[in-house]
Amino acid sequence: MRERLTSLQDEAAIAIANAESLDALRELKVKYLGKKGELTSVLRGMGSLPPEERPVIGGLANEIRAQLDLLIAEKESAFEEAALNEQLATETIDVTLPGTPVKLGSIHPLNLVIEQLEDVFIGMGFEIAEGPEVETDQYNFEALNLPKEHPARDMQDSFYITPETLLRTHTSSVQVRTLEKKEGHVPVRIICPGKVYRRDDDDATHSHQFTQVEGLVVDRGVSMSELNGVLLALIEKMFGEGTEMRLRPSYFPFTEPSVEVDIYHPEKGWVEILGAGMVHPRVLEKAGYNPERYSGFAFGIGVERIAMLKYDVDDIRHFYNNDLRFLRQFRSE
Ligand code: PHE
Repeated sequence: MRERLTSLQDEAAIAIANAESLDALRELKVKYLGKKGELTSVLRGMGSLPPEERPVIGGLANEIRAQLDLLIAEKESAFEEAALNEQLATETIDVTLPGTPVKLGSIHPLNLVIEQLEDVFIGMGFEIAEGPEVETDQYNFEALNLPKEHPARDMQDSFYITPETLLRTHTSSVQVRTLEKKEGHVPVRIICPGKVYRRDDDDATHSHQFTQVEGLVVDRGVSMSELNGVLLALIEKMFGEGTEMRLRPSYFPFTEPSVEVDIYHPEKGWVEILGAGMVHPRVLEKAGYNPERYSGFAFGIGVERIAMLKYDVDDIRHFYNNDLRFLRQFRSE
């Protein structure tokens, strides 16, 4: 039996050495070492051996199995390496070929301006608030000291949806919503960027939909000079240090006194960019703040105005037409 085993070992070793492919190797593995293979069938005759020989033959069989396993594994990895080398040799990659271009979008100029404004105001301790574009007459007008039949309602021709709801004509509606949410607590220090709508005929400087950033500060002892300081900081950040600003007396029913703010543009002269003022006592009162104890200021910035000045855009409609030739110019900002 010992001879049968060793001759089986020799025969298998030669066959493995001569195997020409991975498939041939696998067949040899089954043939010699498999469950129904030759080694197993020799061992099946162990029963006829004298008991003291069985462990010796068993040990020998195990050694032979281990040695053949090793030979097969070595040959297998030789085949695999050869296959890999061949693949590497045939499949060269030309790294100088041009890649597939990735099309990058750009941030819309109005969003660029909103982001810059947010940065400036967050730096001054403001939080960002939001409100709905479909607004009630109450928040858009009534609570801002603009009762029905008030002539100042004509300043903002509106898109009414029902007699009591409309597309907000300004972000000032968020002033009242914010105050109500704060339930009489101070400080209130928010800005609110958003879209607003007015019944205007569209032309180079008017659009029925445009963008504002509202600001509101309410606390004890807030004064007009703080408003002035905040506006100066804003204008210097957006247009550079030394940019001139002027406040013109104006009228809004929800602020008293009210101002319009212009900046000086070297080519265009004085240009209005926002309306502002001290929050009208009646607005504070209606929202649950005692005007004897608290005061505040508010402003509404025209985002398109700022973007047009900053980026030298001569027609407001460029912002809404989505012409790629226009939008792509803001790519590197
Ligand atoms: N809501 C005003 C407008 O749209 C701007 C404004 C806001 C004025 C806040 C004063 C205070 O014209």
